[in-house]
Amino acid sequence: MEQYVIKGGNPLVGEVEIGGAKNAALAILSAAVMTDETVTIENVPNVRDTNVLLNAIEEIGARVERLDAHTVRINGSFIRDFNVDNEFIRKIRASYYLIGALLGKYKRAEVALPGGCNIGGRPIDLHMKGFRALGADVDIKYGLVRAYAEKLTGTHIYLDKVSVGATINIMMAASMAEGKTIIENAAKEPHVVDVANFLNSMGANIRGAGTDVIRIVGVEKLHATEYSIIPDQIEAGTFMLAAAATKGDVTVKNVIPKHLEAISAKLLEIGCEVEEFDDAVRVVASKPLRHTQVTTLPYPGFPTDMQPLLMALLTLAKGHCMISETVFEARFSQAEGLCRMGADIRIAGRRASVFGVERLFGAEVFAKDLRCGAALLCAA
Ligand code: EPU
Repeated sequence: MEQYVIKGGNPLVGEVEIGGAKNAALAILSAAVMTDETVTIENVPNVRDTNVLLNAIEEIGARVERLDAHTVRINGSFIRDFNVDNEFIRKIRASYYLIGALLGKYKRAEVALPGGCNIGGRPIDLHMKGFRALGADVDIKYGLVRAYAEKLTGTHIYLDKVSVGATINIMMAASMAEGKTIIENAAKEPHVVDVANFLNSMGANIRGAGTDVIRIVGVEKLHATEYSIIPDQIEAGTFMLAAAATKGDVTVKNVIPKHLEAISAKLLEIGCEVEEFDDAVRVVASKPLRHTQVTTLPYPGFPTDMQPLLMALLTLAKGHCMISETVFEARFSQAEGLCRMGADIRIAGRRASVFGVERLFGAEVFAKDLRCGAALLCAA
């Protein structure tokens, strides 16, 4: 098992450069196979999920050239196989983007059911509802999501719940459908906008990404592009909260401060200083942390991906904090490790009460999912 040994107690002081957004990259790398021309993508985060996805698209025939650690060139013209399944792809969430991408381009896809962090039920019914509305037959059999269509036709889709994955997936398939598609109650996350910008740079016709109504006019073909992925909002937020937790002074560079507003506002509220620059934010924590309440919500609300980290930080705030998790039903796995380190946290369903303690102590703890790991690192 991979382990980190952390000796805590030092404030984090310095500067850090943020990489490309993981959750944008996973969709963009999938969408890159939707053209037969060559696509170059920069600022790709070099993390397990992106590498698993790149290997999967290579396995079905796409040419993937890694120009450097963060730049890839993809050519999807050699794809002959529409079945994406291996032991690694089954473990990641974003495999579902290959359904939208392959269905859009080839009108068929068979992709392993998505895995991902164990933070709740995580159904894909909205993705399937969207593909069906576009005219595809979709079922789940033998551990695969299978989608076929004679042709895809633009339509009006209302998402019952705001879903980043479903919004992006339907947007991809609809980009190559006949006619106009309207997605209502769409997710507004920065990476939804980034994927729309990427598809538009390949010749798609998508308007309204970043609002809750996205309009897509399908095109017959997409073409070559060169594109650089936006900075990772959650990676940036992770360093901002780690600076606050260690009473540090950190400048987080290569960010879009607008995307970090919910996080900056929370840090200001609990007594940190946050200074915004054009493409950087500086977090200074010199005063005792005050208590607060937070509810996770889709963008522009407080991101669920930051909630485990915020909980780690609030273990040290004075008084009683209340955290409500409204996006995923089981996303408090970090609490167990934090309590082993001396935190005082009580969970009741989707609400957590955090009673501030003076300090945390080293302990052996277990990262049950990605952001749980980040939260425990921050606490350590
Ligand atoms: N949902 C449904 N039906 C669907 C799809 C979603 O009920 O068909 C529900 C989910 O169960 C959840 C809510 O809708 O309660 C929102 O889920 P969403 O679809 O937005 O999440 P996701 O696409 O599964 C992506 C990120 C997550 C991030 C969420 C929310 C990827 C690969 N994953 O997941 O990232 O938490 O959006 O922003 O992009 C992470 O990076 O640690 C991570 C978990």
